[in-house]
Amino acid sequence: MVELKQKVAAITLIICGLVGLEIQSNFVSTRTSFGKEEPYWINEACTTRADRHALSAASRVLVTGGAGFIGSSLMGALHEQFAPEVVVGLDNFNDYYSPAFKKARAHRLKKDFGRDVVAGDVCNGSLLEDLFKEHRFTHVVHLAAQAGVRYSLNHPLSYVKNNLECYVTLLEVVRKIDPESRPSLSYASSSSVYGRNKKIPFSEADAVTNPANLYGASKFMNEQIAAAFHHIYGLHSVGLRFFTVYGPWGRPDMAAFLFTRAIELGKPLTLYNKGEMRRDFTYVDDIVSGIIGSMQYCADAAAVFNLGNNQPVELMHFIQTIEKSLGTKATMKHKTSTAEIKETYADITKAQALLGYAPKTSIEDGMAKFIDWYQNEPRRHAFAGGHFNDRRR
Ligand SMILES: NC(=O)c1ccc[n+]([C@@H]2O[C@H](COP(=O)([O-])OP(=O)(O)OC[C@H]3O[C@@H](n4cnc5c(N)ncnc54)[C@H](O)[C@@H]3O)[C@@H](O)[C@H]2O)c1
Repeated sequence: MVELKQKVAAITLIICGLVGLEIQSNFVSTRTSFGKEEPYWINEACTTRADRHALSAASRVLVTGGAGFIGSSLMGALHEQFAPEVVVGLDNFNDYYSPAFKKARAHRLKKDFGRDVVAGDVCNGSLLEDLFKEHRFTHVVHLAAQAGVRYSLNHPLSYVKNNLECYVTLLEVVRKIDPESRPSLSYASSSSVYGRNKKIPFSEADAVTNPANLYGASKFMNEQIAAAFHHIYGLHSVGLRFFTVYGPWGRPDMAAFLFTRAIELGKPLTLYNKGEMRRDFTYVDDIVSGIIGSMQYCADAAAVFNLGNNQPVELMHFIQTIEKSLGTKATMKHKTSTAEIKETYADITKAQALLGYAPKTSIEDGMAKFIDWYQNEPRRHAFAGGHFNDRRR
């Protein structure tokens, strides 16, 4: 078993090295044609398989990470918008953050929409094969992953297992399906792939060669592996680089939940560099509409899109928005750090043009909805716990 894992890791690294060069040079070579400036994605338009991917009542969808924040929101939205024949989640309910929180999301999906989240691991290839045999999926959205940047410093192997081994296990199942009946495949990448990229806003055309942590590196490898699977097996896919997603039922390890809870409990917030930072916060419904766009998009290869908001928010404004909604003032501790990046946000022109992506939720409206959910959720303090607080090295 150990030997097999080492082989998978070695093959993955070789593929990533080779395909990385290929991807980067593709981006450069498609920037201009016949001396005229054109959008660098111009060659990604696809004309052959579009109808097959249109979502309808006949669709059969697998959402990995279905008990997660984005996965459960997506399952609910798919049910409401298309009433697909099958929408099934798969989730291992791990304890990175409260499994009770994940169970509550799955319970809600069952109660409100009659949809199930199967308890199981994406690394379990025979479970995946059984699910694919039973449901003959038309669309697969792979969101299951080990998320979190800080946790990757202390638990690197969780990223290798969940983000690489499980991902390749899923791709192996999908690529073996006859191309004529292969489902569309969208998967979660992350804005973290941009790492220490200096150019703002971040664009899919930027060379991403400055990883800042293992989480971002694992997501970039997902994109590279997707490109390799296209090169070898003709597998089409869409990678989605999400930029800080927030909203009701949001993760307890992220700023919206952490800051709101700290302010509610009168605990001080630690602010780096006087809070002089700007970030793209993207409301979950906007992200879900982008994912739905990607499920119906006919990628001509291994496409990658930014899904952000293109409207960076000052960190202090974000905190003031929470203070206003809660009616409580935050207390703050100040620290300096060279690790914090001053500004990050997404160029979303490509997703706007090809996925019909149009984020429309302001930080004020989105945070009001989050705080409304938070204040009316009696289990919020039980949901706040999890392994992500673990600082062991
Ligand atoms: N939320 C964000 O701001 C954000 C930003 C960038 C990228 N992403 C990516 O989007 C995806 C969804 O994020 P989220 O915020 O909903 O995270 P989440 O942690 O709430 O959801 C992920 C779910 O996957 C499950 N999971 C993890 N490993 C698994 C495995 N091996 N088998 C089965 N289930 C497994 C977890 O139990 C969890 O419920 C992730 O891939 C994440 O890396 C999220």
